[in-house]
This record gives sequence, C-alpha cells and structure tokens, in this order.
Amino acid sequence: MENPFIYGHLNDISEFVNRSADIERLRQNIENKINTILLSPRRWGKSSLVKVLEKKSGLPKKYVFCHIDMFNFKSDEDFYYHFSNAILHSTSSKFDELVANMKEYLSSLTPTISLEYGGLGKISFDFSSSEGEQSFMDILNLPEKIAKKKNIRLVVCIDEFQNLSRFKDPLLFQQRLRASWQHHQHVTYILYGSKRSMLSTIFEKQSMPFYKFGDVLYLKKIEASHWISYIQRRFRRSDKKISKKFAVKITELMECHTYYVLQFSHILWNNTEEQVDEKIFEKSTTDIIERNSLLYETVFENLSVNQIKVLIMLAENPKGKFTGAKLIKKYDLGTSSNVIQAMNALEFKEIIDRFEGYPMFVDPVFRLWMNVRVLKK
Ligand SMILES: Nc1ncnc2c1ncn2[C@@H]1O[C@H](COP(=O)(O)OP(=O)(O)OP(=O)(O)O)[C@@H](O)[C@H]1O
Ligand SMILES: [Mg+2]
Repeated sequence: MENPFIYGHLNDISEFVNRSADIERLRQNIENKINTILLSPRRWGKSSLVKVLEKKSGLPKKYVFCHIDMFNFKSDEDFYYHFSNAILHSTSSKFDELVANMKEYLSSLTPTISLEYGGLGKISFDFSSSEGEQSFMDILNLPEKIAKKKNIRLVVCIDEFQNLSRFKDPLLFQQRLRASWQHHQHVTYILYGSKRSMLSTIFEKQSMPFYKFGDVLYLKKIEASHWISYIQRRFRRSDKKISKKFAVKITELMECHTYYVLQFSHILWNNTEEQVDEKIFEKSTTDIIERNSLLYETVFENLSVNQIKVLIMLAENPKGKFTGAKLIKKYDLGTSSNVIQAMNALEFKEIIDRFEGYPMFVDPVFRLWMNVRVLKK
C-alpha cells in the first residue's frame, strides 16, 4: 500500500490541510485589488497555499492566475524574460493571440519567438538592442494592458521573491516594479518567499520602494488540532492505527512544522505494521534525524565558532535572556554584540527565526540533531 503521507510536493488538493482563514484573506485581497506579501520561514507551506488558492478560493473565471517562480533567477533579465513569457502564456489560448499581444505591447524590444513542441512558443529579447527604460516598462505593464483589453482580472503570483537580492541593482529593480505596478487596476500581485528578515526590509522599511505595497501576511503554522485529525484519518484509511496520544506527540516533537509533520508521519507509517507504539515512535525519531543528518552536518561545518556557541545556548535555554551577562559568560561569547552578530548571521542563513520576539530554531529536526550529536557528546 502507498504511504498516505507525502512530503516535498503536493500531489493533490485533497492532501491539503486547512489554511481556510489564509485562503479567505487572500481571496478578499484579490477581490478588493489589494496586493499581498506572504512571508514565512522555509517549508511552512507558502508555495502550496498559493498553488491551491485558485481552486480553493472559488473566485469566478474572470480571475486568471499567473505563476512565476524566481528560484533560479540570477539577473533582472531572467526576470523580464520569464515574467513576459508567463503573462503571455497565461492570457493567450492560441499561438496567434500570443504573437498579436507580443507585437502590440512589446515592440520596443524586438522580441523573437521560438516554437516548442506542444507549447505556445517562447519569446526572447536581445536587451542590448532594446530601448532601455521604455522596454522594461513595456514588460512590466504587460499584465495590466492585456487584462484591460480582455476584461479579465489577473492575479500574478511571484514565488521566492527574495531572490531579487542576487540582481546587480536590486533597488533600481524594485523602483521599476513599484513605478509600474502601483498604477495597475486589473492586476493583483502576490509576492512571497522566505528569508523573512530580508523580505520584511523590502516591504516594511519606509525608505524602500515597496513600502506599503500591500497587505503583509505572516503565515502561521497549521494548528495542532488540524494535524491530529489529519494524521489519525490517514492512518485509519490505510488500515493502520495511531492513538490520539501519538498524533499529539508528532505535532509536539515536530512543532507543527508542515514539512516535518508530514515527513515524520511518513516514516512512522512505514515503521508501523498495525499500531503505533512507544518503540516504533522512538525508532521513527532516530530515523528522521538520521535521514536529515547529512544536510545538518554540512550546515554545521559552515558555522563560525560563535554561531555554534549561540546555537548551543539557544538549544539549552529556549526563551533565555541571550544578551544577558550570565549566559554570555556561561557560553564564553565575550560581548552582547558578538551574540547579536551571530544571531543575525544565523537568521540570514535561515537557521533561526524570531517568533513572538524569541529566536528559535527554524528546523525542529535540526534542534533534535543538535541534542543528539552536539550536546550529548
Ligand atoms: N496545508 C498543507 N497541507 C498539507 N501539506 C502541505 C500544506 N502546506 C504545505 N504542505 C507540504 O509541505 C511541504 C512544504 O510546503 P511548501 O513547499 O509549500 O512550503 P514553502 O513555505 O513554500 O517552502 P519554501 O520556503 O522552502 O519555498 C510540501 O511538501 C507541501 O506539499
Ligand atoms: Mg516555496
């Protein structure tokens, strides 16, 4: 029998747990023409949420979704290329229509089109021969122009938005986007990604172009009660048993972290013949640490001595007073500025995040790995 707990990708909308309040907020924002900035630490479920939004929100057909993932983008040219292709593809049903839109709205870029088997064709540009600023604006205004002409509402969803920091001039890039997008009446933007500290600088710092661009939504974890019934239901349907006690224990040990609740449940299900017991649960805990340990070893090797000390301090003193003299002395960190510096670096590396004011491990299994491999040594 197939394991009912899938992690790493969402196969089917029926696998999606709750998030009804987030979906409702996004739906309202779209209807009210409010852009959304969606932020959370890694693997809490941003991409999946936006992926199911189209189906789950129940928005009428005139709302057309367009998805762009900046995961691989290394320059703003990558962005302009993929952005224009994604907009043209999501709004054109036929090759002729795509070409007509391209000619009508992107002529300043002298685009070329290459045909792909089974696809509508891909357009590309030679930016060196383009008309500079006007060309960028033509691309950025493409969604508004097409949506207006077709009398549709476009919802442009851009994943891993924090990757704009890799571009040569991130500030100029943001200024261009803002200058164009703030005038759009037929398009709503959903911009999302991790690296919370960096993204919140982009959207919440007054001096930045994207300040007050939209509703900033900090995604929360899925509540334990939803996980518990989901886990029990999936075990039951696949003819295995898990008592409520162990389902609760999963959410506690994995701190309701979306990806890890699923991975732990997956491993636990594999290890279980009929019914989950203490021994199987223990083995599954060892297994999940083992399964991820290669990654953690690499992460750990790349930490500075102070970063390691701060992580140990954090593991041993959750919610402690980290810049206080007592802990600084105990962990031999010298000064409070050393602690702050190490914490900022760990936050930038997405190893820790500040929830409700407290720095915490982003990855609950990394914390377990630290306990076993570093603290108990
Ligand atoms: N509501 C949900 N119900 C069930 N599974 C989910 C849900 N949300 C996310 N997942 C699963 O959790 C994993 C992580 O989700 P996803 O990739 O959407 O997170 P993310 O926040 O976009 O991560 P990253 O920051 O790494 O891009 C995926 O395997 C996905 O299938
Ligand atoms: Mg994602």
